[in-house]
Amino acid sequence: MRQMFITGPSRGFGLALAKRLDTGNSQIVGLSRSRGDFTGNYIECDFSNPEAAARTLEKTFAQTNWHNFKSVVFVANSGILEPIDFLEKLSVRDIQNSLTINLAGSFICLQQFLIATRELQIPKLFIQISSGAALPERAKPSWSLYCAAKSGQEQLVRTIAKEQNFVSFPAKVVNFNPGVMETAMQELIRSTPQSAFPEVDRFIELKEKGQMNDPATIADALAKLIDSFESLNSGTTYLFSDFL
Ligand SMILES: NC(=O)c1ccc[n+]([C@@H]2O[C@H](COP(=O)([O-])OP(=O)(O)OC[C@H]3O[C@@H](n4cnc5c(N)ncnc54)[C@H](OP(=O)(O)O)[C@@H]3O)[C@@H](O)[C@H]2O)c1
Repeated sequence: MRQMFITGPSRGFGLALAKRLDTGNSQIVGLSRSRGDFTGNYIECDFSNPEAAARTLEKTFAQTNWHNFKSVVFVANSGILEPIDFLEKLSVRDIQNSLTINLAGSFICLQQFLIATRELQIPKLFIQISSGAALPERAKPSWSLYCAAKSGQEQLVRTIAKEQNFVSFPAKVVNFNPGVMETAMQELIRSTPQSAFPEVDRFIELKEKGQMNDPATIADALAKLIDSFESLNSGTTYLFSDFL
């Protein structure tokens, strides 16, 4: 039996992944602000409040009966893209909230995961759901918060992969770039006026031409990545297309 933790299982990619992995050989715990359509073991957790989120994770891990499991996987999937606008238009509160949920949220998930599993001698995998927005050549106007957070998440993973070289029972930590998926996040992009997001037409065109992936397809790819645990290189960013 595998113990899975997924943040943001209430909708979109997190929900598709929870459904894909609900095969009887995984126990799935999901953490988000709402349950949405997630039917597994749900824990309320809001990453906009980092101290409360850290306590929730600590308690969740403390209640896990690790002896029942042959491996553990944590998927840090929760994320927000809003607000989409030029930096001059963002409030300080917008900046703080977005970076807290996306970036501090990932730090807290990874930190609490490593603390809780430090002495476990089973395969341990932490997957950060990243984005093409992390790449230098994919910086987009009006996405400063999201691009900066996604780049930061990827570098966090690379850094922690190196730290794990110094511990007795290291976990593998990897990034996963899921590509463009048809979720609420894409609906938000398409509904943003061009004045706030100059590149909006490109995303409307992707939808019109049917060039976005179904989250279920990408969940299949991530399930294959998880099954390839032995061959994964810690610190690497994997592309969904590597596992289709
Ligand atoms: N869609 C794409 O094209 C695309 C492309 C590249 C990368 N990604 C990445 O894929 C991941 C999933 O995105 P998605 O497209 O599935 O987006 P989505 O449909 O908007 O889902 C986002 C998830 O994050 C959770 N979340 C948001 N704020 C939260 C908070 N404060 N605390 C806890 N959980 C929170 C939401 O749950 P609650 O609202 O219930 O809290 C929801 O389950 C994100 O990391 C995103 O950056 C998406």
